[in-house]
Amino acid sequence: MPTARQWWHDAVIYQVYLRSFADADGDGIGDITGLQARLPYLVDLGVDAVWITPWYRSPMADGGYDIADFRDIDPLFGTLDDADTLLAAAHAAGLRIIIDLPANHTSHTHPWFRDALNSAPGSPERARYFFRDGRGDTGELPPNDWISAFGGPAWTRTTGDDDQPGQWYLHLFAPEQPDLDWTNPQVRADFADILRFWFDRGVDGMRIDAVSAMAKVPGLPDAGHAPGARFESSTWVDNPHWDVDDLHTILREFRTIADTYGPDRMFVAEAIVRSPERLARYVRPDELHTAFNFDFPRAGWNPATLREAIDRSRDALHEVGAPATWVLSSHDETRHLTRFGRADTSTLPMTLTAGTDSDLALGTRRARAAALLMLALPGGAYLYQGEELGLEEVTDLPEDLLQDPTWERSGHTIRGRDGCRVPLPWSGDHPPFGFTTDNAQPWLPQPDNWKSKTVAAESDDPDSMLTLYRTALQLRRTLPALRSDSFDWQPSAPDVLAFDRGQSFRCVVNLSRQPIAVDPDVTVLLASTHLWDSQTIPPDTALWLRTNQ
Ligand code: NOJ
Repeated sequence: MPTARQWWHDAVIYQVYLRSFADADGDGIGDITGLQARLPYLVDLGVDAVWITPWYRSPMADGGYDIADFRDIDPLFGTLDDADTLLAAAHAAGLRIIIDLPANHTSHTHPWFRDALNSAPGSPERARYFFRDGRGDTGELPPNDWISAFGGPAWTRTTGDDDQPGQWYLHLFAPEQPDLDWTNPQVRADFADILRFWFDRGVDGMRIDAVSAMAKVPGLPDAGHAPGARFESSTWVDNPHWDVDDLHTILREFRTIADTYGPDRMFVAEAIVRSPERLARYVRPDELHTAFNFDFPRAGWNPATLREAIDRSRDALHEVGAPATWVLSSHDETRHLTRFGRADTSTLPMTLTAGTDSDLALGTRRARAAALLMLALPGGAYLYQGEELGLEEVTDLPEDLLQDPTWERSGHTIRGRDGCRVPLPWSGDHPPFGFTTDNAQPWLPQPDNWKSKTVAAESDDPDSMLTLYRTALQLRRTLPALRSDSFDWQPSAPDVLAFDRGQSFRCVVNLSRQPIAVDPDVTVLLASTHLWDSQTIPPDTALWLRTNQ
């Protein structure tokens, strides 16, 4: 039975990377109270929902994606009461809240993992994770060839009470993030309870982190990774630790729980897999509701790959009856403004390199056009905090401040994701730009030149990125065509993307190096750059048009 159209079919969801959004208590790290104080900003921006990155108790080995207690808030971010107050305030302001659930792994400080370390090989405590004997004469080699997303082997050897080396445990991410064994009924039961814990508190949705890692092929066979191979899950076929079919039984259990709360509670899958068709399997009618579409940012600023990403994604999702989603940036990728000013405009999450030159003026121009493209596509859209201010990747953070585990795990060859996580500039003309109290240091330093990119500076500037986003989001709310499912490509040159939504709305994006002519019978609703005249679309420009006069 098709359900009525729910808010998550076409919502614009704003990603709050909590530690970098707004700091109320002056410790230089964003927190729940800081977010609550800024809810009016998000209402004014015009988004429908907020996705908050993990806020649970955590030693922060991976920015909070390493969780010691899934039912409590980390003191850095506040308290459970603060979370409840935020939920109430957001709902009162008309905003939905999506929380982030990394269910593939816990922190190494989670009581379960501590118990496992203190228990014998083969014990029930160890069976919640993947503990295995090593290979080699004395077990000195990892149990298989699996690799960590942050570099190096996916196994770490334990040391027993007698100081002798013991079994190995599996971590597809950092060693501080041991993988749970989801075939264990205790793991499943505990997470069922965690889902209810948060749905009972009123959260509207959950992002399920690293979903594709949640099942492993029994027996944990070698993947056949070449020595020194990088974690590139978007290319893997039949991999024994990624996108394994058994994970779908877990997703069905999750869906059953969400459904008991009603069709307006939702999940979004973080699944970086090899094709839109594989991704569509995560959003079959009895599984998760939506999934991030990483093919879109991977397409770069390239008309052919963008068109293909749009078509293949829509087709694959149509097969399973799920809405599309679109995203340009997140806390895991180089900010798209910087990418779009580089020779290679595409991205692969978590495989960032340092300091590649970028033409930021060109990147800004394209980022403005990309925003109008994304917000004109049918389905939901995710905005990453700061993209609405036109923030660039900070590529020159001092090495001693880098915190992403990738930096250490890659032997200081890959700087990691800190450059897209620099705290937001709110106001003023010097750091910390209103992010924290004036005498406090943000956890990562902000560039001095962000004084022109603060919320305050951009708010009254008709040409700012913020004004463009506000205007686009307001139009998106008021134009029914933009919230419908209709979508029809229009004839265009190969370097141009042109499509209609409904009878009277058209989006045209000129990705070519030349100006193009625009149909004389249209009215420009919104343009990503200043137009020379109403009949010409300059390069790297998007227009929203009214077509029926
Ligand atoms: C994906 C998250 O987005 C990323 O930030 C995190 O490092 C990994 N999953 C591991 O939880």
